[in-house]
Amino acid sequence: MTQELARTRTDQPVPRTTNWWRDAVIYQVYVRSFADGDGDGIGDLPGARARLPHLAELGVDAVWLTPFYGSPQADGGYDVADYRVVDPLFGNLADAQALVYEAHRLGLRVIVDIVPNHTSDQHAWFRAALAGGEERARYHFRPGRGAEGELPPNDWESVFGGPAWTRTADGDWYLHLFAAEQPDLNWEHPAVHKEFESILRFWLDLGVDGFRIDVAHGMIKADGMPDIGRREQAKMIGAQVLPFFDQDGVHEIHRSWRRLLDSYDGERIGVAEAWAPSAERLALYVRPDELHQAFNFQFLTCAWDASAMRQVIDSSLAATTSVGATTTWVLSNHDVVRHTTRYGGGEQGLRRARAAALLTLALPGSAYVYQGEELGLPEVDLPDSVRQDPAFFRGDGQEGLRDGCRVPLPWSGDSAPYGFGRGGSWLPQPDGWKALSVAAQSGEPGSTLELYRSAITLRKQLTGLGDGEMEWLESPVGTLVFRRSGVVCTLNALADAVELPTPGRLALSSVELTPAADVVRLPAESCAWWTV
Ligand code: NOJ
Ligand code: MG
Repeated sequence: MTQELARTRTDQPVPRTTNWWRDAVIYQVYVRSFADGDGDGIGDLPGARARLPHLAELGVDAVWLTPFYGSPQADGGYDVADYRVVDPLFGNLADAQALVYEAHRLGLRVIVDIVPNHTSDQHAWFRAALAGGEERARYHFRPGRGAEGELPPNDWESVFGGPAWTRTADGDWYLHLFAAEQPDLNWEHPAVHKEFESILRFWLDLGVDGFRIDVAHGMIKADGMPDIGRREQAKMIGAQVLPFFDQDGVHEIHRSWRRLLDSYDGERIGVAEAWAPSAERLALYVRPDELHQAFNFQFLTCAWDASAMRQVIDSSLAATTSVGATTTWVLSNHDVVRHTTRYGGGEQGLRRARAAALLTLALPGSAYVYQGEELGLPEVDLPDSVRQDPAFFRGDGQEGLRDGCRVPLPWSGDSAPYGFGRGGSWLPQPDGWKALSVAAQSGEPGSTLELYRSAITLRKQLTGLGDGEMEWLESPVGTLVFRRSGVVCTLNALADAVELPTPGRLALSSVELTPAADVVRLPAESCAWWTV
């Protein structure tokens, strides 16, 4: 396809409601593991497009696609060598355009991932930089310390483990907060701003509805790049402001991107993947002139404990409300252990995961669903021999490796690759996934897939869910009960049943429930919605 054609705007029959993102349910497609169209064992854009009806049936409002751009795949595509092409692994630009078109036809918006903190080391700029070109100033090159410059310029560590600096043949070092194949861009350089503005326009012109902004908290580094003076810095991320994360300067970039998004019709949005030490600092990313959403990782990292959850809910809502935004509930994504497993695994983990889904879908704000959580998929325990996460090869920087949550989805059939594609699957799927496939769970009362379908559909039908107010009601320790305008949500986080006065008419429950007229026994680790 020619550049010209790629830039043609697609038809957009998507209904334009105001502020759609405030309570949108957004489904994350990890492209490589969603559906394989060409039988090479790797998920791709044509595969994803063919499976869009699954998302329409689930009832979500939008889909977020992880990076599918030209990339050597040193970090699952988060190492981009060319931001304006589709990697042949995943298809081509015409496939991207067809996917956007088809999604819009089905009433789904499309958000793509943008990776501005770093490029691939194979990006034309970085290659020119290594060859000594002026592009060098677009990255962070520094002489080393020590008599021969043999020590890194400072003590910063890569999020994936080891030093955040790699020495080049000419003796200088370059900064990479992630893998060595992901050199950090220098956002003090005007060419970097200009280039990303052009990249954003390229995809907006192609018709996408917004961007998930990778490492949105990392683009600006503290002046002078001071030492931190402590090791194990990955553990400090999200706990404090670091000289390379959550610097105030990043907000200027987000403001300029907001102006760009607003210059397009159709309410295009920006979503920050930002790790900030507090709900208040996270809320800075969603001030009215900045981005629309920021992932709420405080909830993702919260233990299975009613009072801890209530605290996170309160502080998240207070912080986002103070800047006029809504919050964004996230239980899983492609970087963390799947929550069925985090919540204890097995039957207990699944019970809690189902309850957590109903809880978050009843809270004010927007909710993200990571592919496969609607099937109740557990984390897969993979042998080291098949692991591909760069964090695995770089040592102990990142707790928890990220391959076990990226195993390709089971769609149908009795054995691997369970309808993922005609070929195999790039990571092995477990033997027992037959019962978890989309086909096996469809129409099966009580299945996790049907629970998600009902919850997302009901959320639209019942008054008072989605955006708006909530009010806590008194309830026994270990439980959470709150009212939205027409719905009460009850969560029993305890390992034992708890009795409550029946709050209303049962609308949906994560386990089987038989309420009496006046009192209901809420089973252990369950959540229910009641209309009032
Ligand atoms: C966050 C992405 O979600 C993750 O997968 C990636 O490794 C890092 N950013 C670096 O781009
Ligand atoms: Mg493929």
